[in-house]
Amino acid sequence: MTRIHQPEVTAAVITQHFVDRQKLQEFHPFTRLRALLDKYPAGQSPLANGKPINLSIGEPQTQPPAFVAEEIAKASAGWSRYPLSKGSEDYLGASKKWLEKRYHLPETMIDSARHLLAVPGTREGLFFTALTVLPMAEPGKPAPVFLMPNPCYHVYTGAAAAAGAEVVTSVATKASGYLPDYTSLPAEILARTALCVLCSPSNPEGAVASPEKIKELILLARKYDFVVAFDECYAEIYSETPPPSALEILAEMGGDLSNVLVFHSLSKRSSAAGLRCGFIAGDEKWISMINTTCQVGGAGVPLPVQAAGTRLWQDEEHVEKNRALYQKNFSLAQKILGPVFPVEIPSGGFCLWLDVGNGVAAAETLWREAGIRVLPGAFMGHRGENGFNPGDRYIRLALVYDPELTAVALETIRNVLAPDQTATKEKTEKAPTDKIAGAL
Ligand SMILES: Cc1ncc(COP(=O)(O)O)c(C=O)c1O
Repeated sequence: MTRIHQPEVTAAVITQHFVDRQKLQEFHPFTRLRALLDKYPAGQSPLANGKPINLSIGEPQTQPPAFVAEEIAKASAGWSRYPLSKGSEDYLGASKKWLEKRYHLPETMIDSARHLLAVPGTREGLFFTALTVLPMAEPGKPAPVFLMPNPCYHVYTGAAAAAGAEVVTSVATKASGYLPDYTSLPAEILARTALCVLCSPSNPEGAVASPEKIKELILLARKYDFVVAFDECYAEIYSETPPPSALEILAEMGGDLSNVLVFHSLSKRSSAAGLRCGFIAGDEKWISMINTTCQVGGAGVPLPVQAAGTRLWQDEEHVEKNRALYQKNFSLAQKILGPVFPVEIPSGGFCLWLDVGNGVAAAETLWREAGIRVLPGAFMGHRGENGFNPGDRYIRLALVYDPELTAVALETIRNVLAPDQTATKEKTEKAPTDKIAGAL
């Protein structure tokens, strides 16, 4: 495949639009991915050898520690009980202790009864937060605004659609350090804002917000009286420096949690996406109101799951192993893709946001020719009225497999997307197709 180079497009800094909640399938990235790729029978190409590799989903492939199953078994009497929506004392206590240790918080800052809420994951937490925080639009008045980065995790947009809010995005490109800049938005938009989300480390780019940027956003939220949701679900996956939390910044600012909600889960940290276990920490008023929304429409976190979650928040050994795995995979990405693509190793998370010129074309080619499934960046982005979508040039690769399979996948990507640049290298190396057949 030839790489397609687009001329530089002037970035639309913001987009403003409504998403029809009955047309969620039109923007849902994985529905779009299926429509793009499933017309090609999986793994029929000689390279795929009947065993496709899926790098499109941010789902850790290592297993959580064995004690998870033991804790669940020990607490199995809890399966017959409805869990208290707020979370058990033990679970909330372990979450509080983990926050204090990880972010050096004073013990007095977080009261687990008032400032914490157990949720199945950050996804459910964010969704119920949007349904709670975004007010009903008043007849004849402009709708409330939900601010989000562009590109972003699709659940923010879906939640805005469900709540009937106007979606306003702030572009996150290389020029902006892959983070949105909400401070430069017009005052009219900020005045209508009810909810804003900052994801750090960000998905898809893995960018980490500085303490200054976090503080600036907290002050902006208080000035315009909106809620800022810090999506920190990738906080434990980082390369060198642990990413700061909004809670750390709030501690430095005196410990008041007003206008701030912070989201964590065990999905990425503990490779336990299927456990469905996380929490929200923050503003007492909103924690209480979101709890009510969960009581009305949520499932709660089952008691045996909370027992396992309690233990996971207390253990760091397995998290260190997970971090080391992702670091190895990023080193491989640098080594294998670095010579032919502008690889930028992210500060956090396990996804590589790779500029390939045309992400949709690359995703189609990789699947058709090699059975490698990746997510086109455009499917995570919002397209502005001028046609600009900051994800267009990119594919997102979730580097979640063991290094051996990751190396095979990355070599295949390089060989398929940049065959010319690879040709010389190949002469001195073992034929990559042999490697693929062997490893799959
Ligand atoms: C940015 C971001 N936020 C939230 C989530 C939801 O994760 P969970 O609900 O498993 O915590 C994901 C999952 O991929 C994500 O990428």
